[in-house]
Amino acid sequence: MKIAFSDTSMPQTAAKGTALVILARQADGGKKDAEGHARLGAVGQALDKAADGALLRAIEAARYKGAKGTALSVLAPAGLGVARVVVAGLGKARELDELAAQAAGGAAYGELAKGSDETAVLAAEAPKGARKLKAADLAANVAFGARLASYRFDKYRTKEKPEKKPRLADLSLHVKGAVAARRAFARLDAVADGVFFTRDLVSEPGNVIYPESLTQEARKLSKLGVKIEVLDEKKMGALGFGALLGVAQGSVHPPRLVVMRWQGGPKTGAKAQPLAFVGKGVTFDSGGISIKPSKGMEDMKWDMGGAGVVIGLMKALAGRKAKVNAIGVVGLVENMPSGSAQRPGDIVTSYSGQTIEVLNTDAEGRLVLADALWYCQEKYKPRFMVDLATLTGAIIVSLGSHHAGLFSNDDKLATHLKSAGSAVGEKLWRLPLGEAYDRAMDSKVADVQNISSGGGAGSITAAQFLQRFVNDVPWAHLDIAGVTWSSKDAPTVPAGGTGFGVRLLDRFVADHYE
Ligand code: BES
Ligand code: MN
Ligand code: ZN
Repeated sequence: MKIAFSDTSMPQTAAKGTALVILARQADGGKKDAEGHARLGAVGQALDKAADGALLRAIEAARYKGAKGTALSVLAPAGLGVARVVVAGLGKARELDELAAQAAGGAAYGELAKGSDETAVLAAEAPKGARKLKAADLAANVAFGARLASYRFDKYRTKEKPEKKPRLADLSLHVKGAVAARRAFARLDAVADGVFFTRDLVSEPGNVIYPESLTQEARKLSKLGVKIEVLDEKKMGALGFGALLGVAQGSVHPPRLVVMRWQGGPKTGAKAQPLAFVGKGVTFDSGGISIKPSKGMEDMKWDMGGAGVVIGLMKALAGRKAKVNAIGVVGLVENMPSGSAQRPGDIVTSYSGQTIEVLNTDAEGRLVLADALWYCQEKYKPRFMVDLATLTGAIIVSLGSHHAGLFSNDDKLATHLKSAGSAVGEKLWRLPLGEAYDRAMDSKVADVQNISSGGGAGSITAAQFLQRFVNDVPWAHLDIAGVTWSSKDAPTVPAGGTGFGVRLLDRFVADHYE
């Protein structure tokens, strides 16, 4: 979908094949708003007048309120000449923020995609009483929301009926201050490119995405100026990555560790040290010899979600030329049962030197991250490390799909991540770490075991295991098992791979390091 911004005023009619979109706010309960239906701005009112009141009649008839993330299609209103007018809700004016604007854009796209129009023009006027958002930022965020909503993973659907495919190809937004809107959107557009890349990677099945092919995908970032270094099995063997290699040994697909470097920041001084993001990239998690039940096992194609976010984030940062030095490290393996697979009870020596008793081969993500984290801090001396992993089913029990789990050894880092998440609508909930949980990972025969003895707190003990592979560096772990895949459409996140984490970390970087 092509997105453009224009300073000209919103047309009152349009050629065949073009839909009109207006924004409405939700009544705030004040005297003037007593009847409670969605309220139109100046452009909406002018259109309603030209349509002889058809828009407001439709709004009333549908009891449409203009709530955040909702939209209403008004079909063929007399007097306007168009086949569709979409009214998209901004919610209450005084609460209008970037997220509400994005939700309006997403909801508008959802209505437009149902219809046959190929182009749409949208009046991006800020409602009276909107304090938090300027018109240009409103327009940029409406466009961002529409673009995020337009994502589809349909490359394998060769027989989808043409009338089921969205037709909309052009969206143009009319806004006072198109230059500023265009500039704000360019940045968001690069973030959307990163989100889409992540969504693509997590949507691909395990026969297409495996360590070598995912490495090839990461290599595509070199076009944007990202430097790629790859460790293969031999190099990792020589370095002593016993934890990661133990997981990989049951698969016919050899493992990889990929390091992506974006150097947009200073070359010397304290700020030259990179920000580090580390991702779990299990391209398929069968559980290994501790094999998973077959029901739902197909979901484990997205067990590389953490790596997918790190790769998408690097794309976003490079795409918008972020003024920071950042590295992304992804540990890529396939976890399979076979005659060469790792056995429960095996003891492996990790790159850190610590020995690990592998009591359950399905607790493999932490083994991969153990070596990736240690390598990252040793080799790159980062300012901090944030790892992302679809690490535990237990985090889904705790938080469902509404928050990702956050664990950290650093309160400031945790606070910054949490607030970046709230700002972009990718919410985090912090859970504790502590010595008692750590003790549950002590092994009787090795330095540490990969599952806890004693019940409960599965996400915390997993994080505790990771912390044993982190030195003094500030570190945070995001358990994204519950948020990486969604079964339900939301205004800016279609069902499927969500890309959760790309927007969050992009915002976190922008707010604190640029
Ligand atoms: N990849 C899974 C976690 C997972 C589960 C992600 C459901 C997404 C949806 C992870 O490797 C795993 O199998 N974890 C085990 C750990 C257990 C053996 C201690 C789990 O959560 O059951
Ligand atoms: Mn597993
Ligand atoms: Zn896993």
